[in-house]
Amino acid sequence: MSSRQSLSSWKKLTQMALEKKSQHMNDLFAQDSKRFDKFSIKLPKLLLDYSKNLIDSETMNTLFELAHETDVTGWRAKMFDGEKINKTEDRAVLHTALRRTSETPLIVDGENVTESVKSQLEKMESFVNNVREGHWKGYSGKRITDIVNIGVGGSNLGPQMVTEALKHYSDNSVNVHYVSNVDGAQIVETLRPLEPEKVLFIVSSKTFTTTETMTNARTAIKWLTAASFDESAVAKHFVAVTANSTNAMAFGIKKENIFDMWDWVGGRFSLWSAIGLAIALDLGFDKFKELLAGADEMDQHFINAPFEQNMPVIMALLSVWNTTFLGAKSQAILPYDQTLHMLAAYLQQAEMESNGKSVTWDGVEVDYATVPSIWGELGINGQHAFYQYLHQSNNVVPADFIGSVESVTPVKGHHETLMANFFAQTQALMTGVNEQQVREDLKAKGRTPEYIDKVAPHKVHKGNRPTNTILLKRIDPATLGSLIAAYEHKIFVQGIVLQICSFDQWGVELGKGLAASIQEELEGKTIADNHDCSTENLIHYYKQTKIN
Ligand code: F6P
Repeated sequence: MSSRQSLSSWKKLTQMALEKKSQHMNDLFAQDSKRFDKFSIKLPKLLLDYSKNLIDSETMNTLFELAHETDVTGWRAKMFDGEKINKTEDRAVLHTALRRTSETPLIVDGENVTESVKSQLEKMESFVNNVREGHWKGYSGKRITDIVNIGVGGSNLGPQMVTEALKHYSDNSVNVHYVSNVDGAQIVETLRPLEPEKVLFIVSSKTFTTTETMTNARTAIKWLTAASFDESAVAKHFVAVTANSTNAMAFGIKKENIFDMWDWVGGRFSLWSAIGLAIALDLGFDKFKELLAGADEMDQHFINAPFEQNMPVIMALLSVWNTTFLGAKSQAILPYDQTLHMLAAYLQQAEMESNGKSVTWDGVEVDYATVPSIWGELGINGQHAFYQYLHQSNNVVPADFIGSVESVTPVKGHHETLMANFFAQTQALMTGVNEQQVREDLKAKGRTPEYIDKVAPHKVHKGNRPTNTILLKRIDPATLGSLIAAYEHKIFVQGIVLQICSFDQWGVELGKGLAASIQEELEGKTIADNHDCSTENLIHYYKQTKIN
């Protein structure tokens, strides 16, 4: 038995889960008219209602006990203080330092992180203003109109998700584009309408070794120099964001065009650094600072609020409850704001790359379920696609519903329709409708007894499907910053409770290594005899088909 399973709170929760599985939330609501007051948190611009979960006060208290027994408080302090809690990579985890307002020095390996962050933010600000105001010129002397961010994973998803979410706040000084896929189709289509003399590329890669990004960056250089007939144009059209300036310079990017990343920032938590340059170029530096301030506000809430009032802590504990104790296998992210259409993709990396692991930080196989698979879509589109599954399949999928009180668009007659659906869905998922109600309803509609017998079982919704509702006042840079930071801290707390190192990602290495050697085979540089017969035949078929 693992050390987690022997905790007294863990044992109690295991027992409680058995009891709770036979209860229905309808009864819990009927017994307690104060559920919403008890199980919701209101922050100035953000509300979390978690009352539609299979919980009661005893469950929550035991979950808080679990957070105490696993020393979430101690680990939280270690993270914010810059201790090397990323044990397998021997690194600090300090994305919070990127948005910290305090001027107090924070020292990691002899470096004052506070100073380094400040100096990069200043460098970003002056660069952003230069480009947006048209002082930064391309090789032909024209101002920059288009920014192309080349990066993948954390060097793409965070900035792109935020750019999409905050489009409304862009003054269109520049147009921002993102290229992540090594499939040439993406870069070709992105560059097709652009004029090389007016394009600025940001090569975003913490390691500056990622094949997809390097390949796209090489293609971008060729595209630019084919138009400029001059290698020196690269200096005016390429900047890099990286923790590996040596590689970036070897690639041809000028030292002064390199923005620093640090090994104490994980890629999936890096949008607050210069990895967010495209966001700042799109919105202006003041708005970027508002995004950071919103995240810092959530950091302060996470540090200071007692667990009982702590949004990220509660979100994490509910995920552990639903997954590890109640057996859910996946979790849906269902934003209703169009602007958040990339949120699920972003959180897939954030949560699954962080906690999709099955050994503890001490390298021992875990004997409990860790995190669910994360998936999702815009909720309103999902309603007409996969909500059938959410309502009636025999898998229970806990879901986060995210919506806003105010719309960012002035168009009338849309938001109430959107939000009516938003509220209706969580109610329906919770209450369901039983067979007796279905039969009565059909009878009242004048249906024949034969028809009622045939159709009634299909119309039953068991309900009892857990949801969290996150209601934002309105999507703006600060609120979005708070929302993202809440999820970041949720992921951190989950990792601590489940005893998982959330900040490494060894599971991506095996495939990467194999791809590198198979690429040599595809290019005819090597012949390998170490594949299984499926892979070998697939490669053979690919090569043969290509030749013929
Ligand atoms: O392969 C996974 C990964 O390392 C992610 O963790 C990271 O966000 C992404 O690739 C991109 O890495 P880089 O910024 O070093 O190019």
